[in-house]
Amino acid sequence: MISLIWAMDENWLIGKDNVLPWHYPKDLAYFKAHTKDQAVLMGDMTYQSLKSYYKTKPLPFGQIFVANLVDTFYPDALLVKDLHHFLSTYQGNLFVIGGKTIYQLALPYADRLYITYVLKTHEGNVYFPPFDLSLFNLIEKTLEEGLIFAVYERKSS
Ligand SMILES: NC(=O)c1ccc[n+]([C@@H]2O[C@H](COP(=O)([O-])OP(=O)(O)OC[C@H]3O[C@@H](n4cnc5c(N)ncnc54)[C@H](OP(=O)(O)O)[C@@H]3O)[C@@H](O)[C@H]2O)c1
Repeated sequence: MISLIWAMDENWLIGKDNVLPWHYPKDLAYFKAHTKDQAVLMGDMTYQSLKSYYKTKPLPFGQIFVANLVDTFYPDALLVKDLHHFLSTYQGNLFVIGGKTIYQLALPYADRLYITYVLKTHEGNVYFPPFDLSLFNLIEKTLEEGLIFAVYERKSS
């Protein structure tokens, strides 16, 4: 199962340069609870951003896949160049954890969406790409301190 997980504000803002535009401990806890020890896929920019948060500490995931188009070596990650082949043949559970470019490329393969709605607007410059949410059913929704944690599953066709 391929799941995308992200937080966005009322304008679908997700980033400010290469960091999150906000600090919501409840959302970080939600993200950590879902992705801890899980296989994750992220773009090179998001990998760099997380590395700058965690510094020398290991990233708290299981298998880490980093999408990039150049030959790089990361000791804690496997590189993915052919994203479409990777996503169409992936077996098992995978969380796609950003950023904008990789969400956009992974959306057609998403079985599940974990969206945190930040119930206000923030400053920033990276937005989640427009997509058709009506292809998904809402299966879970909780409201906590200005955040809605929503889970969607792709409708069967
Ligand atoms: N709010 C949230 O939940 C959330 C979560 C995660 C990230 N973010 C935000 O998202 C922003 C980063 O998004 P981004 O779009 O700039 O970067 P990104 O998606 O993290 O990474 C983009 C990189 O992916 C690689 N790539 C692009 N197309 C590819 C393809 N077809 N196959 C394989 N690799 C490919 C390229 O790496 P190379 O250049 O190395 O080739 C590209 O630079 C940041 O502001 C971050 O804070 C927000």
